[in-house]
Amino acid sequence: MPLVPVLAQYLSTGTIVVQATTIGYNSCKLKEGKMSKKVLIAYGTRYGATASTSDEIAKVLRNEGLDVRVVNVGKGKVKAIAEYDLVIIGSGMQMAKWTGAAESFLGKFQKELASKKVALFVSSGAQALLEYDKKTDEIEKARKQYLEDKAAKYNLHPVSMVIFGGVWDYNQMFFLLRKTLGSFKPKIEEAGFKEIKPGLYDTRNWDNIRAWAKEIAAKL
Ligand SMILES: Cc1cc2nc3c(=O)[nH]c(=O)nc-3n(C[C@H](O)[C@H](O)[C@H](O)COP(=O)(O)O)c2cc1C
Repeated sequence: MPLVPVLAQYLSTGTIVVQATTIGYNSCKLKEGKMSKKVLIAYGTRYGATASTSDEIAKVLRNEGLDVRVVNVGKGKVKAIAEYDLVIIGSGMQMAKWTGAAESFLGKFQKELASKKVALFVSSGAQALLEYDKKTDEIEKARKQYLEDKAAKYNLHPVSMVIFGGVWDYNQMFFLLRKTLGSFKPKIEEAGFKEIKPGLYDTRNWDNIRAWAKEIAAKL
């Protein structure tokens, strides 16, 4: 398929609003019971957003008393997952696709994950733009395509699934892509995102990411 229609198509798909609720609990009590619980965050990334989102989730979970290991499955191998009480799998989205490494992780541990506590998240550059334009149908379509279909494909029963924002890093794009996707810059800025470094926009809502991590901790 030619590049431009493909890009137009991915921007017409999208993401969901994170429904991050505040969990009321006594954090000391929670931490007491969680000291021995182990969490694996296995993620795949192309532009780096899923790496820093994973690190932030890990920070919150550790603060909740959990023992957390974070692995970029595109670089490091996970040999076994039996020891983990919860496995969080994250991936960046590109052309509506997960990274090959995150997808392989799902395939490799499919059997064990099916009977384990699992949570899924994806990093999506389109989310904030769809939210800004209030494209509810496309937001729902993206949730189905990016998360629900993935869970069904691997027979997972996630305790939670969420789409977070991502980055638009024009410095990492090859020339033609940079030129084509450059036309979205005004939309990104109109949606309220400033260029944080030349060619770099970050559309993540860190409060939502932290709130989701707290929700996940409460499920253990
Ligand atoms: C070529 C290209 C295709 C993309 N396709 C999608 C897409 O289909 N859906 C989406 O929500 N965001 C899309 N994005 C934005 C990415 O999701 C965003 O860059 C995100 O940060 C990717 O995660 P990562 O940084 O962990 O790789 C695309 C970005 C590029 C450069």
